[in-house]
Amino acid sequence: MTLRTVEWKDNSVVMIDQTKLPNELVFVKYTDYNDVAEAIRTLVVRGAPAIGVSGAFGMALAALQSSSETIEDLLDDLERAKKTLFETRPTAINLSWGLEKIMEIAREWKTVSEVKDAIIAKAKQMAEEDVKINKQMGKNGSELFNDNDTIMTHCNAGALATVGYGTALGVIRATKESGKNIKVIATETRPVQQGSRLTAFELKHDGIDVTLIPDTAVGYIMANKLVNKIVVGADRILRTGSVYNKIGTYQIATMAKQHNIPFYVAAPLSTFDLKSNPEDIIIEQRDSSEVTGIGDKKTAPDGIDVINPAFDMTPPELISGIITENGVAKPPYEDSIKKLFEAN
Ligand code: MRU
Repeated sequence: MTLRTVEWKDNSVVMIDQTKLPNELVFVKYTDYNDVAEAIRTLVVRGAPAIGVSGAFGMALAALQSSSETIEDLLDDLERAKKTLFETRPTAINLSWGLEKIMEIAREWKTVSEVKDAIIAKAKQMAEEDVKINKQMGKNGSELFNDNDTIMTHCNAGALATVGYGTALGVIRATKESGKNIKVIATETRPVQQGSRLTAFELKHDGIDVTLIPDTAVGYIMANKLVNKIVVGADRILRTGSVYNKIGTYQIATMAKQHNIPFYVAAPLSTFDLKSNPEDIIIEQRDSSEVTGIGDKKTAPDGIDVINPAFDMTPPELISGIITENGVAKPPYEDSIKKLFEAN
């Protein structure tokens, strides 16, 4: 059984509460879009494609919650919900992509009930497509991996970061499904430990050979030839091929270059931002408590200054290929990314 991270059931949004993993597999149910916004903000649901679809489902709840009798008032209610949902997390572009797709559909219809029905149908369709896209991406990416590869991944770009199957872990799943024998090394991914809590949980759950390492062991693992390929997900990819992903990705890519280890990124086209430049991108800064403690245990002195960015940028020259549902982009990325979109 592959996990379903978020789904629409009986006019409500049902999600796995990822803050409780790996200790408990708990599902939460929301009927108010404000609660979905809070769930995104507090990492009940996280991972770029998963928050994109959650945002869309949040908009579907907002449509149901609205008592407006005119299209104009309903669109105003939806714009308010969009703003609340958008402000939860700034770096992953999939969130604004999901919200905007819903607004586009909303503007196409003429009556209140048509708009409501169309929004719910669109959000459900986005969730279904997410899984299909990940499977295609997995197939495309699996050709880059060989029998007996040991593949490192960072953070969680798995079923739990999407609606199902995953991006980087989707590539790993598809490689395994193609009959190749592979092993995975998962970084712990401090401070919130998406690697140990989520990737290790998810791969073990699916019977994929996974070994957990502390983030600080990445250099040791590479220097001792205990890994021969790397694949990670992305929160935003610029037209130049610059990749924004979980903090720590940049140092892994830099070290991979030093050791001549191919470093791949797997992401759907909805993660690309062809308009922005690096200075436009907001790197989310999270609460210092994520760094000054582990669970309830304090691990730093009171009053310590903390810098806690959630994401970093990996420059294109460190990336061997970007795997998408439309194929694999190779350097130079300005050209190859453009071609991926032309094929759409
Ligand atoms: O802070 P998170 O857990 O939302 O960060 C998630 C990541 O950085 C993932 O690698 C990225 O969203 C890709 S998920 C398919």
